[in-house]
Amino acid sequence: MTAPVIVVEDRQDYALLTINRPEKRNAMNRQARTEMMQALTALQGGPKAIVITGTGASYCAGMDLKESVTDREQGITTANQEWRDVNVAMRRHPAIMIAAVNGYALGGGVTLINVCDLAIAADTAELGMPEIGFATYPGLAGPSTQLCLGRKRAGWMILTGKRIDARTAEAWGLVNQCVPAAELMAAADTLARHVAQFDATALAACKGALDTVPAVVTDWRQAFDFGESTNALIRDTTDAQRGGMERFHAGQRNPGQGRTGS
Ligand code: COA
Repeated sequence: MTAPVIVVEDRQDYALLTINRPEKRNAMNRQARTEMMQALTALQGGPKAIVITGTGASYCAGMDLKESVTDREQGITTANQEWRDVNVAMRRHPAIMIAAVNGYALGGGVTLINVCDLAIAADTAELGMPEIGFATYPGLAGPSTQLCLGRKRAGWMILTGKRIDARTAEAWGLVNQCVPAAELMAAADTLARHVAQFDATALAACKGALDTVPAVVTDWRQAFDFGESTNALIRDTTDAQRGGMERFHAGQRNPGQGRTGS
């Protein structure tokens, strides 16, 4: 039996998914794509947060380009669709996805940051889209980066193929935080546990709103209506809002309240 290349760990409040193909710089081959999809399916309705990281010097070096060549020779044409399905499944997943970017994130590795809701990068990490060197538009990394960055910054990555370091990625907003490499997993652990203290329905609704508002809502009135309807949806699904109000009324603090806001 082949060893798994996506290692799933239950960390109580969250799940940790580690891409474990360090000898191939965590390039996403068919096995990795399949196992990632299986893991995402198995974790539906489970942990409220999922941290994604890679083993070794690379977060993810993108699609497995050598397998792509073998695929082409064998007439297999499903690779891009499989990869798209994985990334859409991450966006649609109710859990909050957190990228812990431990090293190189190239091509599909950048996509794997962009589809996460939050991202922390080691200060040694580098992000880039080398596709222009293959005379290619980065099919998923390109559009997902353009949804996150302004035109010149996205253009810098897409048109020059130059990598940006983690500090630049933080300054541009492609990741939330850049931390010393040795502190990366502790920072991701703290963030995942922080997120996991909130209500699951509210988290999933807020995650959905992060996509829906910029994509669909075009004016302020519509934006406010959307906010109201999102809360109505949460109330229809859980009484967590009422619980929060009752706790506050009784002089207790909800997570995120109080002077420290932690
Ligand atoms: N697909 C398939 N194999 C890959 C790969 C990818 N995207 N990225 C790296 N590998 C493989 C290499 O072919 C090599 O395999 P081998 O030992 O069987 O020859 C192994 O991983 C190590 O790669 P190497 O280039 O020697 O490692 P490095 O530490 O010097 O450099 C990278 C690491 C990630 C900077 C470099 O491998 C790289 O640029 N990879 C290509 C990334 C890319 O273009 N991604 C875009 C995909 S759309």
